Parts: sequence; C-alpha cells; structure tokens
Amino acid sequence: LRVAVLISGGGSNLQSLIDFARTEYNAGYEIVTVISDRPAEGLARAEKAGIQTHLLDRKKGMKVLAENIDNLLENTIDYIVLAGFLSILDRSFIEKWKNRIINIHPALLPDFGGKGMYGMNVHRAVLAAGAEKSGCTVHFVDNGIDTGEIISQMSLDLDKIWNAEQLQKEVLKLEHKLLPQTLHLLCTKGSGK
Ligand code: GRF
Repeated sequence: LRVAVLISGGGSNLQSLIDFARTEYNAGYEIVTVISDRPAEGLARAEKAGIQTHLLDRKKGMKVLAENIDNLLENTIDYIVLAGFLSILDRSFIEKWKNRIINIHPALLPDFGGKGMYGMNVHRAVLAAGAEKSGCTVHFVDNGIDTGEIISQMSLDLDKIWNAEQLQKEVLKLEHKLLPQTLHLLCTKGSGK
C-alpha cells in the first residue's frame, strides 16, 4: 500500500520505515512521499532514499497546511504516518482521512499525552511521576492530541533509567521497532475499519 510520511525534524522514525521496507521483501507498504512543515534533516534522509519530498510552510496557518497536504496526497495514498510531525492538522482534514492517519507517541498513552507532551517534556513528566514503565504508542489520529484509538504499544521498565535523556534514547529504540511493524501489519492485515 502507498504511504505518505509527515515529519518536522530529524526523521529517525522515517529512517526506520525506509530501512524496514528495504530489508523486508514482503513489506506491506511503500513510502511514496515525505512532507515536512518546516526545514527538517529528515528531508535529506528521504532524498537519499530516492523518495519524493515536499517542504510546506506552516506559517500560512494550519488550514492552508492541511489543504496543501490534501492536494498533494488526494486519492493516491492509503495511509498517512505522522513521524515526529509537530503541527496539528485541522478537523476537516482529520475527518476526510479518518482511520487512515497514524501517529507514534513516545509514551504509554493514554498517560503522558496531549499538548506539550513531546520532546524531552514527556520523558521528564514520566520520571517526575515516578512511573514504573514507559514506552511508545502507535494510534489513529483523531481531533484530539494523542487521543485516538490505540493500535500498538511497546514498553520498558524504568528501574535502570536515571534521567530523561537516557529514557528518550531507550524509547526511541522501541519506536524504531514498533512503527514499521505496526504499519506493516496495518497494510497487510488491514485495520478492519
Ligand atoms: C521523537 O521524540 C519521537 O518520539 C516523536 O518525534 C520525535 C522525533 O522523532 N514521534 P524523529 O527522530 O524526527 O523521527
């Protein structure tokens, strides 16, 4: 199936999707385009892999951003993957692409999600709360922030984690496993939606 990946930064999750599709001969997906809402190193990763890229300008507002993305993707894409994408897509876009947008969040939702829970903030919050476990979650994107139906999760014990930087590193390793596997299963087994 045809997939578009939306990014805003380094694109390590994008890279894991590219690598999985390269090594798994029966990968259920092909990344056909990568879109960023700001200058992002992840674009270079896509270009190196020979994947079409688009750099959009979010300063024109989220409605225009969503319209631009929609025009680019129209009915040529099966799933949209948000991989470190930091803009909030507007309601009409989400409705149109209902159950066809997935996001990866670096915590065990429904805990530690929502506005402001990204980057190091989420890992600091998990440690500050004295949680025993953390991890990552892939979920369908709905009109909330990190509130859509959960598809898959991977977790790790925090007994050997001392600080937020270490936690981010360990969670990112899990993300790089969870996202490609989840997208592959979604594309091969369907979402039943
Ligand atoms: C990571 O913290 C990840 O948890 C979240 O976005 C951040 C950047 O990821 N999804 P990437 O390296 O740009 O894929």
